[in-house]
Amino acid sequence: MKLIDGKEVSEVLKKKLKDEVAIIIDADQRAPHLAAVIVGDDPASHTYVSSKEKNAKALGFTSSVYRLPGDVTQQELMNTIEFLNKDDQVDGYIVQLPLPEHMDEQLVTSAIRPEKDVDGFHPVNLGRMMLGQPAYLPATPNGIMELLKHYQIDTEGKHCVVLGRSNIVGTPMSVLLSRKARPGNATVTLCHSRTKNLEQMAASADILIAAIGKKEFVKGHMVKEGAVVIDVGIHREPSEKTKSGFRLKGDVDFQSVSKKAAMITPVPGGVGPMTIVSLLINTLKARKKEVFPG
Ligand code: GUN
Repeated sequence: MKLIDGKEVSEVLKKKLKDEVAIIIDADQRAPHLAAVIVGDDPASHTYVSSKEKNAKALGFTSSVYRLPGDVTQQELMNTIEFLNKDDQVDGYIVQLPLPEHMDEQLVTSAIRPEKDVDGFHPVNLGRMMLGQPAYLPATPNGIMELLKHYQIDTEGKHCVVLGRSNIVGTPMSVLLSRKARPGNATVTLCHSRTKNLEQMAASADILIAAIGKKEFVKGHMVKEGAVVIDVGIHREPSEKTKSGFRLKGDVDFQSVSKKAAMITPVPGGVGPMTIVSLLINTLKARKKEVFPG
């Protein structure tokens, strides 16, 4: 079994990004600027946003965070979005999900200007992605595509099984893997809560992507011998052994699955670091107007 080291691959990509940003700054031009909007006090969301901010700054990006209280109205959030849409100094921004219950996520993601939608959640970017046109690709699925590329994992004609149909990961992942591209050209099965024979489906996968949001859901018996396993899950559990008082687990039971898989992403240090890099790659593209020229 070989580990797919997302930390290492992300460091290689970060170095490239840092060099590209330095060229922009050395030419006396404005650094790329990523903004984030976070509503409420969900600890996991705050951890993600802080990590995005720290990484962005370390690579020379400008980073700003708009922190709104959990009881902010939809209209107030829309005002912030409108402000960011018009701010020439902001190249791209994200609204951290999930939003509080009283908000309409679709309305919010659709209000972000597609040119600044570095999360790739706007219908224009999702539609362009489906058609294979230039688009901001959602960060987690694109980070996984970068891992497959880096490790030269052949997806052509392979059976890829995606567990979970979220708008953020499962659904775009299934599209990217089945597109006529490399990596891509796979035969994709998308499994979800209503799938009847999910365990057999998973066990038939050459490449298994677990994005189902259930801690250690995928066990050894659900994985084919020699499969590639990508674990998107992030779950905190209390631990006396760590300074923080918790440790991270994925959607995959690493112990049993690592005995069957040929390659597997660990949690932490697999998909997670790649997601942040993908977002910064999109932000640099936004700064250079590569996706939406003119
Ligand atoms: N919540 C979990 N993942 C993401 C992401 O990639 N972007 C945003 N905006 N929110 C998230």
